[in-house]
Amino acid sequence: MNEFIVANWKSNKTEKEALEWMDAISKNKPQLKEGQTIILCPSFPFLAPLKSQLTEANVPFQLGVQDISSFGEGAYTGAVNGAQLKEYAAYCLIGHSERRKNFGEDKGVILKKLEQCFLAGLLPIICVSQIDHVEEIASSVFEKQIIIAYEPLFAIGSGLPDTPQNANDMATLIKEKISAPVLYGGSVTSENVKSFTGTQALDGVLVGKSSLSPDEFSHIIQNA
Ligand code: PGA
Repeated sequence: MNEFIVANWKSNKTEKEALEWMDAISKNKPQLKEGQTIILCPSFPFLAPLKSQLTEANVPFQLGVQDISSFGEGAYTGAVNGAQLKEYAAYCLIGHSERRKNFGEDKGVILKKLEQCFLAGLLPIICVSQIDHVEEIASSVFEKQIIIAYEPLFAIGSGLPDTPQNANDMATLIKEKISAPVLYGGSVTSENVKSFTGTQALDGVLVGKSSLSPDEFSHIIQNA
């Protein structure tokens, strides 16, 4: 069994809060089941201190990033490129609906970012809310290692998750088009996580709000 549990902190926490979160996790380390991979995606400035803390406290979590420059190294003011991110992280979220909506990221940008992930050796976690998002990337990810996260718009941050049946059906449909693990995201909590991870086609969850509390996130890992 391979199961991915991804924490997407979004634009939350100060450095102090980020380190306190990790401190709480270190003091009460969740027992990972065989095959479980836990990926924490904080804001860029916390990658380096969190990486040190993970290593020192021997916490078996991986780091991911929430974004990547669509360009490589060079004159791209404000952008953080894949090679820079790879020093700290192994995974990268791509195409999150909040990036599509608030930052105008369309198919063209998403494909460029995907390419930068592959060049840097970051494993992309591609967020899709509808099946045409999968069709848009299908030819670019052929035979590449990726993870897909199905996140229906109505379920993100609303407290109203999709039904496990629906999420499972969507994951099945996605897997007919692309060979990759498929996660579910949208209002996942410690209470409902098992209803998603227990389905046949889903391979884990992407957690926003409920990952901000170390206790709740630990319960998600335990209950998954
Ligand atoms: P949520 O966010 O868990 O707060 O609904 C999930 C996501 O947007 O990745």
